Amino acid sequence: MTTFLDEFAQAPDLRYLNHAAVSPWPNRAAAAVTRFAQENVLLGARDYPDWMSLEQRLRERLARLLNAPSTDDVALVKNTSEALSFVAFGLPWQSGDQIVISDEEFPSNRIVWEALASQGVEVVQASLKGDDPEGSLLAACGPRTRLMSVSAVQFASGVRLDLQRLGAGCKQLNVLFCIDAIQQLGAQPFDVQRYQCDFAMADGHKWMLGPEGLGVFYVRSELRERLKLHEFGWHMLEHMGDYNRSTWEPAKSARRFECGSPNMLGAMALEASLSLLEEVGMDTVAALIAERVQWLQEGLGAIAGVKLHSPLNPARRGGIISFSIDGIDNQALWTTLMAQQVVCIPRGPGVRFSPHFYTEKRVITETIAIVASIAKP
Ligand SMILES: Cc1ncc(COP(=O)(O)O)c(C=O)c1O
Repeated sequence: MTTFLDEFAQAPDLRYLNHAAVSPWPNRAAAAVTRFAQENVLLGARDYPDWMSLEQRLRERLARLLNAPSTDDVALVKNTSEALSFVAFGLPWQSGDQIVISDEEFPSNRIVWEALASQGVEVVQASLKGDDPEGSLLAACGPRTRLMSVSAVQFASGVRLDLQRLGAGCKQLNVLFCIDAIQQLGAQPFDVQRYQCDFAMADGHKWMLGPEGLGVFYVRSELRERLKLHEFGWHMLEHMGDYNRSTWEPAKSARRFECGSPNMLGAMALEASLSLLEEVGMDTVAALIAERVQWLQEGLGAIAGVKLHSPLNPARRGGIISFSIDGIDNQALWTTLMAQQVVCIPRGPGVRFSPHFYTEKRVITETIAIVASIAKP
């Protein structure tokens, strides 16, 4: 995989295995931001219509990445947590309603539902341990369950869920299906239609290789108007730009969730990053990530004292592999790795590695050698 290496310019001694946290940008994202900065200095917003065209291209790219039926189904949001909050505080709840989540969710996909406790809504956690995590999630749904919300790939263990099965199960049970897609979108193909999901959201700074602070929110069109709005402004109006109207209505499209001025700087970068992923193709991206995770699994698994905490079955994996070393505290392990320029993070029971499609084999081989040297008694 040499063709896309010139898209990245990380420091030569850096071993970056932290894409599940915050990714380095590709060169083209940096170039887009530089161009935008220069344009702002020289011309200000003289060519604002061009910026809006760029923003529309970004929406189109995100809609394709999600396989959303239309760009009208996606809103540009601040982050995953904001979009989750739009769902939680947009749906009408009744006391006694239940929401099913897993017991491995990132806090954003747990506390937002727990925040509904004052409305009498109860959160039920299903365990993902065991051979049939989807079975456990579906079995946790009862007559009072209104919604299931899961992360496509769990942030700590890296367990990837069968979203198609969950979507079909939720449909059968008449339960709304919400996917925190941040650990899958940009790493593996994603398909809101195949998953029959009602809501999906992700920020751009992980697998999509963009900056922090600009994400996407998909809402199935039939549900769009059922979400009560909590943010209002000029940008979310059907007749955006007609400042002389005295009456107004929210946009019919998902733009209704975008209250005011857009994050145009972030849009410049994310649009450029997504153009790279689209050029490579999501099937290729996923295959290259799987290969790199496999290299890590085999290399780490061969080191005495190393324990792997992520699924060994490739069908269950995303881009995350977590491990620990017997007798070494994860925090100490992480500090030692970082000191040797292996960029990673302690999460859950282990230290988490997360390569992307462009990660060179050299990075993996050197990292495995470093782990072996730490594990050596
Ligand atoms: C599964 C998952 N959901 C949500 C987030 C955070 O999302 P955001 O910062 O976009 O709100 C993270 C970040 O690590 C995550 O791993």
